[in-house]
Amino acid sequence: MTASPDRYAVIGHPVDHSRSPDIHAAFARQTGQTLVYERLPAAPDAFAATVAAFFAEGGAGLNVTLPFKGEAAAYADRLTDRARRAGAVNTLAREDDGTLLGDNTDGIGLARDLERQLQIPIAGSRILILGAGGAVRGVIPVLFEHGAAAIHVANRTAAKAEAMAADFTDLGDIGGGALSRATGGWDIVVNAISAGLTGETPDVSPAVLDDARGAYDMIYADQPTPFLRWVAEHGIERRCDGFGMLVEQAAESFALWRGVHPQTADVIAALRPGGDRHPS
Ligand code: ATR
Repeated sequence: MTASPDRYAVIGHPVDHSRSPDIHAAFARQTGQTLVYERLPAAPDAFAATVAAFFAEGGAGLNVTLPFKGEAAAYADRLTDRARRAGAVNTLAREDDGTLLGDNTDGIGLARDLERQLQIPIAGSRILILGAGGAVRGVIPVLFEHGAAAIHVANRTAAKAEAMAADFTDLGDIGGGALSRATGGWDIVVNAISAGLTGETPDVSPAVLDDARGAYDMIYADQPTPFLRWVAEHGIERRCDGFGMLVEQAAESFALWRGVHPQTADVIAALRPGGDRHPS
C-alpha cells in the first residue's frame, strides 16, 4: 500500500484567488515530488483552530497570507531569525518532533526577483521603500543582508516609517519619514503601498525617481500596475511587478519543506498573469 502524499495548503482570508496552488503544483512536477497543495480558507477569528486541525489531520506545511502572518508568528513553536525580525510568518513547517517552525521567505523572494528582473545588484544600492506595512518589515533585513548601502522608508503615516526604521538601525543605514516629503537620491524605488499609486493619491513627488535606475512593485496584476505606469511615465525603463517575488518566496518555502530548491524562471514565465516584466 502506498502512503498518501504529504499535504500542504495556503491559509488566508480571502484565499480563493491565491496562485500558490498552481505555483507549488508546477514545482512538484518539475522536481518529481508527489504532494497535495490546496487553499485553506479561515474566518478572521479562526486562524489558530484551522491550523491546529490541519496539522492534527497530518498536514505537513502551510503558507500563510493576509491577514494572518502576524498571528502565525505567535503560533509557531520556533522562528527562524528572519521571521523573528519580521514579526511575520509566511511559511509553517511541521518538524520531525511534531513542533511547528515558522519562517518568512518574502524578503528573499523580493531580493532574488528584483536582482534578476531589474539586473541591478542590491549590494551597494540606495533603496527607497514606499509604504511601511507588514510586508516591509519582512524585506528590510534581507535587503541589508544582500548589502544595501542605505534604505529610506517613506510612508503616509510618517510615525510608522520612523518607528520601523528605528527597529532596524542595528542592521545598517536606515531612516524613515513622510511620503509627501520623500526626495531623490535612490538607485532603486520599491512600492509596498497596498493601494498602489492611483490618481492624486498617494501623495508622493516624482522627484523620488530622479536618480532611480529601476523600480519594483511588490504588488502584481494582470495589467501593469498604477505604480509601474507612473514610473514608466517618468522614464524609468527597468521596472517589474511582484509576481516573480510570489514565485520566489514559494520556491523558498518548497525548499524548506521538501529539501530541494525548484527552478523559478520557467514557472514565472509560464504562470505570470501578463504584467510588466519587460520594459516596453
Ligand atoms: P502590507 O501587509 O501589504 O504591507 P499593510 O500592513 O496594510 O499592508 O500596509 C499598507 C501600507 O500601504 C501602509 O504603508 C499604508 O500607509 P499608512 O501606514 O499610512 O496607512 C499604505 N497605504 C495604503 N493606502 C494608501 C494611500 N492611499 N496612500 C498612501 N499610502 C497608503
